Amino acid sequence: IGLVALMGALALFFRLMRMRKSVKVVRISDKGIVLIDEISGKPTIIAPQAPATPKPANAASLKPASVKAAVPKLSELLATGFLYPGMPQMLIGVRENITPRMGSLQEEVKCVGVGGRGRSGKTNTMFFYTIQYLFQGAEIWLADPHFNKASGLTTMLGPLRKYIRVAGTLDEIQQMFDDLQVEIEERKSRQGPYRPFVFIGDEWNGILEDFDVEAEQQGLKEKESFSRVAAALIVKIEREMAGYDMYCALGVHDWTDKAIGGTALRRLIHSVLCHRMTADYSKHILEDKAWNSQTQGLRTGHSIFRDNEGIYEKLIMPYCTREDAVTVTRMLETIVESTQPQQDMIAPGEKMPELPMRPQQPQLGPGRVEVDRAQTIDLSTSRPGQTGPLSMSAKEAVTRVNAPALDEDEEEPLEDVKEEDLADSAEAEKIQFTAAEEAELLHAAMQLHQKSGKVPGRVAILKQVRANVQEREGEKAARRWNQKHWPKIAAICSKYGL
Ligand SMILES: Nc1ncnc2c1ncn2[C@@H]1O[C@H](COP(=O)(O)OP(=O)(O)O)[C@@H](O)[C@H]1O
Ligand SMILES: [Mg+2]
Repeated sequence: IGLVALMGALALFFRLMRMRKSVKVVRISDKGIVLIDEISGKPTIIAPQAPATPKPANAASLKPASVKAAVPKLSELLATGFLYPGMPQMLIGVRENITPRMGSLQEEVKCVGVGGRGRSGKTNTMFFYTIQYLFQGAEIWLADPHFNKASGLTTMLGPLRKYIRVAGTLDEIQQMFDDLQVEIEERKSRQGPYRPFVFIGDEWNGILEDFDVEAEQQGLKEKESFSRVAAALIVKIEREMAGYDMYCALGVHDWTDKAIGGTALRRLIHSVLCHRMTADYSKHILEDKAWNSQTQGLRTGHSIFRDNEGIYEKLIMPYCTREDAVTVTRMLETIVESTQPQQDMIAPGEKMPELPMRPQQPQLGPGRVEVDRAQTIDLSTSRPGQTGPLSMSAKEAVTRVNAPALDEDEEEPLEDVKEEDLADSAEAEKIQFTAAEEAELLHAAMQLHQKSGKVPGRVAILKQVRANVQEREGEKAARRWNQKHWPKIAAICSKYGL
């Protein structure tokens, strides 16, 4: 018993000793301190907090969470000038390694089906594309049965509705299809060039369904439903109208033949952007099993894209808000104002209200010859003397897309570049660059702007371009962004006031 009592007493003594632990605090820097145990004299250093050095962004190791944070929002793409009216191509989406997937309305996109279950990001994507159709100078007609829903495309477009013809009720949508028929015939009856035209149907399955329900209520047979007429017109656009610069974009939650308006309509869709939906639905539109099986695990705003040539990619869509519509309206108004004196067609007599609740109804009735048109913006006239994104005309843009690409076989060491090397010069003024080069450079500028919140210098942009190219295509490809391309870099930067 004595021994047990002694052991107990000893245990208590040592326990209390440890709890006593009086320490002396010694500051060694701003944030660092040393704790000195006054009994044992043992120092414990609490190191100054090291500045958080960001690890170099390694695309392959990016986790989904950080990918979401890194994909630029539409507001940033507008602020950095990455997207602008008159741009030669469209940003179809952003890859997981944060590189832009560019493509043209006339080639990779054409008639696009945007799929996904409810709240998967369809309307956000349709909004993102609508902005870019406007930037292509396209005439846009939108059929949106959810026009008075807060989360609907029409509501999101806000003030931009003055540039878009919107049909919301079933009657309006039916009228729109009648006019679409006129538009198709009109285009086919004359020589080009044609202004790009896009018919947008958000909630496409719903539109067809509503027509079928209406037909049923009127005691009509299924094949007498107006949905047949509507679907046939879309098939016509898909099959014959690309040559007349006429396209469509359909928001779809069900790809089955019956729900979408027939086998032909489904098969003729040129490109597909499929958001989250179960594989047994997406298999109707994405033939490749390895890809369609991925759609059920997609996060909101992520998608599987299949272009018009059947090339698949996973793309993330920039997040859009109604504020962006206000920004874009301001950009477009600037163009309309600056071109108004020369162009009667974009200066309509009547003034549109600031935020129209519904677009003014046209005077309809027998003998009507005029189709109700959306106000369009002509991006074809160049505005010499202006700098910045708005200075490029659509025509110039096309020429640039077709300009020669970077030389393939140059290989030179990377030099120490100085800001002066990339300065504006007489040589730079005359230089031609491709849309791909422009996109590469703007992408780098955008990344740097995102990191620092400041407009980056030209040397920093060049370094970022090289880093991006190296990561994607290797060191040899990065070396091609060398001395020979400095005037090009100067030209692109000066175009954007960088
Ligand atoms: N790319 C995106 N990034 C972040 N959030 C998104 C994205 N797309 C959509 N969202 C959000 O997800 C929700 C549903 O989007 P929405 O486009 O209305 O889906 P759907 O039309 O498929 O029902 C909205 O709150 C929207 O803000
Ligand atoms: Mg929606």
